[in-house]
Amino acid sequence: MNNRITQLFGIKYPIIQGGMVWCSGWRLASAVSNAGGLGLLGAGSMHPEMLVEHIRKMKGATDKPWGVNVPLMYPEIDRLMQIITGEGVKIVFTSAGSPKKYTPVLHDAGIKVAHVVSGSRFALKCLEAGVDAVVAEGFEAGGHNGREETTTFTLIPQVRRSVSIPLIAAGGIVSGSGILAAEALGADGVQIGTLFALSRESSASSEFKQRCVAMDEGGTMLCLKKLSPTRLVKNSLYERIAEAEARGASADELRDILGRAASKRGIFEGDIVNGELEIGQAASYIKDVLPVSEIMDTLVAEYEECKARIG
Ligand SMILES: Cc1cc2nc3c(=O)[nH]c(=O)nc-3n(C[C@H](O)[C@H](O)[C@H](O)COP(=O)(O)O)c2cc1C
Repeated sequence: MNNRITQLFGIKYPIIQGGMVWCSGWRLASAVSNAGGLGLLGAGSMHPEMLVEHIRKMKGATDKPWGVNVPLMYPEIDRLMQIITGEGVKIVFTSAGSPKKYTPVLHDAGIKVAHVVSGSRFALKCLEAGVDAVVAEGFEAGGHNGREETTTFTLIPQVRRSVSIPLIAAGGIVSGSGILAAEALGADGVQIGTLFALSRESSASSEFKQRCVAMDEGGTMLCLKKLSPTRLVKNSLYERIAEAEARGASADELRDILGRAASKRGIFEGDIVNGELEIGQAASYIKDVLPVSEIMDTLVAEYEECKARIG
C-alpha cells in the first residue's frame, strides 16, 4: 500500500480518518495515526483554546504523522490558522470553502495541504491553489455534502481525469474492498469518516453510535440544501425538516427548526430524537462499535484478501 499518499504524509497505509465535528478529538486521531493511518483532529467543533488543548494532547499521544481538518467557514479562521502554524502542525486538510487564500499561508509555514471537493471543477481550483493532494468526496458521505449529489463511483474517475495530483477518495468506504475499488477508480488513498465516527475512540455519544449501527439501508437522507447540504439520520428532527422542505420552507425557517448547536446536541450529547445526527449511508454496513486498531487491521486484511482474490 506504499504510494504517493503514504510518501506525501509519511504514513504506513493510505487511509485517512476524516476530520469530524464532535467525533475526532485527540483520542480518535491518535489511535488512527498509531495504527498506521493518518488521524485528523476535527477543528470544526472546537473553540480555538480547545484546539490548542487537543493539539498538545495529540503530541503526547503519538509520534506518528497526524493533521488537523479546518472547515474554512470557521468563524475565527485567522486565529485558528495562527494556532496551527504556531503549534507546528505539519498537515492540514481544509474543506468547505476556497483553498486559494490559505494554501500559500500554510505552505509558507511548511505545512502539507489537502483540500476536500465534491466535483472536478473544484478539484481544478485546488490545482490552481497549489494544494498537495485533493480529497474527492461523494454524496454517500456523512457530514456536509456536495450540492450536486455526485456519488463516489461517478466522481473519482472524473476527478482523476481532471487532475494528476495525489487523489484521496471519500464517501461510502467502510471495507478493504472499498479501498481497493477506490484505487481501481484512480484514487491513491481513502478518507474514511463514518466507520471511525462509530469507533470506540470517537468522542461521539454512545447513544449516537448505537442509533447509527442499528440503522438499515436508506436510514439517512441528504437535506438542508438551502443552508448547507447535510446527510441526516431519519429521526424526528429530520422529519420536521423534510416536511418543511416539501412545502418550500425558507432558509430562515429551516435554521429555526434546526435550532442552536443541533449537531452537538445530536452527536455529542446523544439526543437521538431531536438532535442533528450526521452520518454516511454506509453506517448501515457497520454492525459493532469497535476499537480503531481492530478496524484498521480488518481494513488492511480485507484489502489484501480482495486484491489476491481478484488477481
Ligand atoms: C459525524 C461527521 C462529521 C463530519 N464533520 C466534518 C468536518 O467537520 N469537516 C470535514 O471536512 N468533513 C466532515 N465530515 C466528513 C468526513 O471527514 C469524511 O470526508 C466523510 O465522512 C467520508 O465519507 P464516509 O462518511 O462515507 O466515510 C464529517 C463526517 C461525519 C460522519
